[in-house]
Amino acid sequence: MSPSRASTKRLAPISRAACVGGGVIGGGWIARLLLAGIDVKVFDPHPDAKRIVDEVVANAERAYGLLTAAPLPPRGRLTFCARLAEAVADAEWIQESVPERLDLKRRVLTEIDATCPADALIGSSTSGLLPSDLQAGFAHPERLFVAHPYNPVYLLPLVEIVGGKATTAATIDRARAVLDAIGMKGVVIAREIEAFVGDRLLEALWREALWLIKDDICDVETLDDVIRYSFGLRWAQMGLFQTYRIAGGEAGMRHFLAQFGPCLKWPWTRLTDVVDLDDALVEKIGSQSDEQAAGLSIRELERIRDENLVGVIKALKAGRGGEGWGAGKLLADFEQRLLASASPPAAVDLTAPLRLVETKVSPAWIDYNGHMSEHRYLQVFGDTTDGLLRLIGVDMAYAEAGASYYTVESHLRRLDEARLGEALTSTCQILSADEKRIHVFHRLFAGTSAREIATAEQILIHADRTAGRATPAPLAILERVHAIATAHARLERPFGASRIVDPVFRPLREGQGA
Ligand SMILES: NC(=O)c1ccc[n+]([C@@H]2O[C@H](COP(=O)([O-])OP(=O)(O)OC[C@H]3O[C@@H](n4cnc5c(N)ncnc54)[C@H](O)[C@@H]3O)[C@@H](O)[C@H]2O)c1
Repeated sequence: MSPSRASTKRLAPISRAACVGGGVIGGGWIARLLLAGIDVKVFDPHPDAKRIVDEVVANAERAYGLLTAAPLPPRGRLTFCARLAEAVADAEWIQESVPERLDLKRRVLTEIDATCPADALIGSSTSGLLPSDLQAGFAHPERLFVAHPYNPVYLLPLVEIVGGKATTAATIDRARAVLDAIGMKGVVIAREIEAFVGDRLLEALWREALWLIKDDICDVETLDDVIRYSFGLRWAQMGLFQTYRIAGGEAGMRHFLAQFGPCLKWPWTRLTDVVDLDDALVEKIGSQSDEQAAGLSIRELERIRDENLVGVIKALKAGRGGEGWGAGKLLADFEQRLLASASPPAAVDLTAPLRLVETKVSPAWIDYNGHMSEHRYLQVFGDTTDGLLRLIGVDMAYAEAGASYYTVESHLRRLDEARLGEALTSTCQILSADEKRIHVFHRLFAGTSAREIATAEQILIHADRTAGRATPAPLAILERVHAIATAHARLERPFGASRIVDPVFRPLREGQGA
């Protein structure tokens, strides 16, 4: 018998995309699509386009390795095309990310409209141009919409979807379905307006910030500190309105509005004035920003940003008692879909312990010593147990139907440290099993030399979740357990298995250690 996982399902409703423009945002889209298993053809006349895109994709792969241990689909194929028409000829989704100039965007989009399949979706990354202005003169204007993402597109899930006068509801629905499938959050903006919602808000903040620097109220570093040590932390998890609801105390939003409403008429803002970005102000901001960067290159700053974003998203995934919250809940849902659509292993090799988890040490897993924190070992072993359970047919659907295996005992041995970014692999050997219990021995290996860094011995008990007591597992599950257990009985018993912690200590003498 060879146990198998859920049958293969395609992750996204599309398999071919084209990206026109491969700069900061185009590169991020390319990475997001490739990592969702979608083939991407790129047109960008810039002589360095391939190098830049390759660098962004490498950063994205690194970030995904830190973000999730869920099985990503095989990476899509990346092709660079010499002509726009070649890139879009067979695409199901075309994403335009050329510079923010109406004349250029219209020229490029009109060519896309004329050369791509009639039913292809066309998204524009524009930060603020109206979709009605972009789709004017199209043969098929109904399939153009704004798909406004946030940098880095491969980590930040939001896309503002904005339709123009000619865009159909079906187009918006299809766009949302594709974004949903690749782990993004498509929010539909009800009416088109310049700069949509996100950039309206950011523009207001940006205007105010420029005045504060120009008027020497603070420097750029102080201004950034004001954001990142305070409301920046709140925004990632609750946005503006829900945060202010809480700020109103028990009386909530109404009290907040009553208390701070009058301030709106006080001189608390210079929003209506536009600061003159003259040479002196540009130089002032430029030099303060150089000083703030303290020699870090853009690529280094990008990696720091990515690691921090991964940490925040993972923290949100653990939010609300493990159910997940906001962008973290979105990640948890996406991981479930990744698991459901993962290819089943061709045949499980039963002549060796099962290789069940391949992951990397994430920044959020590091303790003050620069090593992986103690509880993360248990987390990886928990994922290993989950891998075994999926293999024997105990998946989410099985648990929702009322039964599961519970871990009732764990014995963890830590043999070595794991460092940031190191590859981790875990294996599982079934030592014994009966109709209610499975006795497993997991081993964790790190780095390219696969040094053994920990083991975990666990007892799992099959339980009726409603009754809250142990019950025999059904036959179909037991058959799979039995097949693995029989094969593993032929393997050598791992060193450290059933080791009892009962060391003999020499008692401390009085005065020792003084
Ligand atoms: N940078 C951001 O934070 C951000 C965020 C959201 C949306 N956007 C929007 O994304 C779009 C692209 O911005 P960006 O920051 O990636 O700019 P960018 O300058 O980094 O990239 C633009 C790319 O387009 C290429 N290009 C120029 N003419 C082209 C043509 N005719 N055909 C194909 N490619 C062409 C350039 O070679 C360049 O690689 C803009 O509309 C911008 O408003 C940017």
